[in-house]
Amino acid sequence: MRANAIRVEPVVGAVGAEIHGLDLAVPIGEAEVAMIRETLFDRGVVFFRDQTLTPEQHIAFATRFAPINVNRFFRHAEGYPEIAEVRKEPGQTKNIGGGWHTDHSYDQVPAMGSILLARELPPTGGDTLFASMYAAYDALSDGLKATLAGLRAVHSSRHVFGASVQREQQQDGRLRNADLAVQDAAHPVVIRHPGNGRQALYVNPGFTLRFEGWTDEESRPLLDYLYRHAARPEFQCRFRWQEGSIAFWDNRATWHYAANDYQGERRLMHRITLEGEALS
Ligand code: SIN
Repeated sequence: MRANAIRVEPVVGAVGAEIHGLDLAVPIGEAEVAMIRETLFDRGVVFFRDQTLTPEQHIAFATRFAPINVNRFFRHAEGYPEIAEVRKEPGQTKNIGGGWHTDHSYDQVPAMGSILLARELPPTGGDTLFASMYAAYDALSDGLKATLAGLRAVHSSRHVFGASVQREQQQDGRLRNADLAVQDAAHPVVIRHPGNGRQALYVNPGFTLRFEGWTDEESRPLLDYLYRHAARPEFQCRFRWQEGSIAFWDNRATWHYAANDYQGERRLMHRITLEGEALS
């Protein structure tokens, strides 16, 4: 399918767009890359349906946008270190990503985004939810925006991927390299998106520990308020997967949450994460 068939359809008011009319298995043109990038930055996440991609084609598509971040904690797809497996087997009860989070916020230079491709799905369930951190920021009062403007927050990988966390996912081989979970990083609580300059809230329940210079106890009430606020349904969309669906999200503009409502079934996704840039 070529450029004249391309159609961009917003999913809900705040976040998400479905892009129709592109076959990502064949190399796309510069204009199509630019359109996807602009839509991604604007809507926070873009979705594609009915894509039949080999791992090589998945990698080739990803590298049109940024260098690939080889994931140090997730198991890779056999023979493809660039592709992290997001897997849940019928006998496993916990899933990967089953809480609101922003990938890699614990890195000094956080990942730009991820391209998640559905390989095997449960008959029902296993949706992924996305929330707009532009919308969350925009809806704050001027007073709270002014308070947050000077703040930075500390993020960490230790409590999620670290050796002291004995989790099912580490014991059953889905996660690895617990000894490498030593990253802590501080970023502004409100960032300017490097691609379009929009302001976005940049704290998340998965990886943010505290405000820089504040204790955990001092930080907790305000972080909890921001998390309740940012998780409002008006800022969210929910993606129902089919095999061959792709979600390409921007970590600077969104949170995401993998619903764990398919016990006893397999779900296998292939994820490629893209390098980002320092946040300010
Ligand atoms: C993730 O958090 O990267 C996984 C999302 C999903 O499996 O839907």
